[in-house]
Amino acid sequence: MTSHVKRIASLRSKRVPDFRLVFCCGFGYNFHTRGGLKNPMNTISISRRKFAHLLAAGAAAAVARPAISFARQPEHATGTAGIVRLSANENPYGPSLKAHQAMQNSFDVCCRYPDEANNVLIQGLAKLNGVSPDQIVLGDGSSEILKLGAETFTGPTQGKLIAADPTFEAILEYAKANGADVVKVPLTSSFAHDLPKMSAAAKNGLIYICNPNNPTASITPKNDLREFIANTPRETMIIVDEAYFHYADSPDYETMIPLVKDHPNLIVARTFSKIYGMAGLRCGYCVAQPETIKRMHPFQMWDSVNIMALAAATASLDDVDQVPNGQRLNSEAKTFVTGELDKMGYKTIRSQANFIMFDCKRPVVPLIQALKQRNVHVGRLFPALPNYMRVTIGKKSEMEAFLSAFRQVAA
Ligand SMILES: Cc1ncc(COP(=O)(O)O)c(C=O)c1O
Repeated sequence: MTSHVKRIASLRSKRVPDFRLVFCCGFGYNFHTRGGLKNPMNTISISRRKFAHLLAAGAAAAVARPAISFARQPEHATGTAGIVRLSANENPYGPSLKAHQAMQNSFDVCCRYPDEANNVLIQGLAKLNGVSPDQIVLGDGSSEILKLGAETFTGPTQGKLIAADPTFEAILEYAKANGADVVKVPLTSSFAHDLPKMSAAAKNGLIYICNPNNPTASITPKNDLREFIANTPRETMIIVDEAYFHYADSPDYETMIPLVKDHPNLIVARTFSKIYGMAGLRCGYCVAQPETIKRMHPFQMWDSVNIMALAAATASLDDVDQVPNGQRLNSEAKTFVTGELDKMGYKTIRSQANFIMFDCKRPVVPLIQALKQRNVHVGRLFPALPNYMRVTIGKKSEMEAFLSAFRQVAA
């Protein structure tokens, strides 16, 4: 444990009783509240009702202020005019308009720490996922959840990280930085996780399953995954990363959240960066058993999710159109681009995400560079698949721009 972590752990242990008194009633774990450290006489303890009131006051103030138009989607959500950005699996349509409004309403509470907003979102997520609030941890993006997983469950004493190859690499880097060995297990020929080989390589430590997988957009079938979770010894932790959950429509795909109740070694990570269009705001979470969450908390930064992201995420959950609209638009643009690539003779791995990966039948790196010269940015090289290109599904116009540039560079 670093001295920094020790210091935080010791501070936290001092403030826990007071925290319970001030905030715990009815809410999940929020070890990061500041209420517990303050002299009760000075505590600015805002109840949930008060927080809602402050948001409403913000709404009233917004009426008086010159209006900022949120009804208009930005011309190009990248912020870099002229560049077609299909490199980071972002959602080009952005957050829900309800999220825009909630952020505007939050301007007046930006001077407050986000404890109450944190609790409101946890309540919403608990309801959405049919779990109790103490089964949820919020993160500064799901990246923070992955980092917490690596820091808590991998390292010289805790054990190795086992991950697929290729997969989303962030957790591999966090585990290495934590002094852990990292074992990469190639995907199967159908681009699923090779669960028997991953099991065989694991002993304590952590197994990372990215489903749907980034960069291949492929899934690991639900029955295989269920069986794997049931047979993994309790001492070995499993993170199932469901960042792209909302885009998967195969009957062979299913969330693993319902299995958490029976498996203390299972953690399921989700994000607001994809279907909710909030990549720049940073908000993610995980679902696990309360005891597992207690083990992760000492490694978490206090107040890591900002009040704007919390307000936007909470409002997004109330927008019944955000998810189906995002799914429909993604599916239409994906069908279009994969159809065009198919006509050109390029085979795409069946995509269950908001990006595709296809075999470009030659080394991908020169093609990536040539596309960049034409202002079209696509995914980086994934060394395990050197002839495959990963392309984010943008708006139809962006996919047309990609196809036009790809036709030129691949000619
Ligand atoms: C599979 C996967 N997990 C996690 C993340 C991190 O997402 P965020 O930190 O924005 O929630 C990404 C980002 O692209 C991803 O592809």
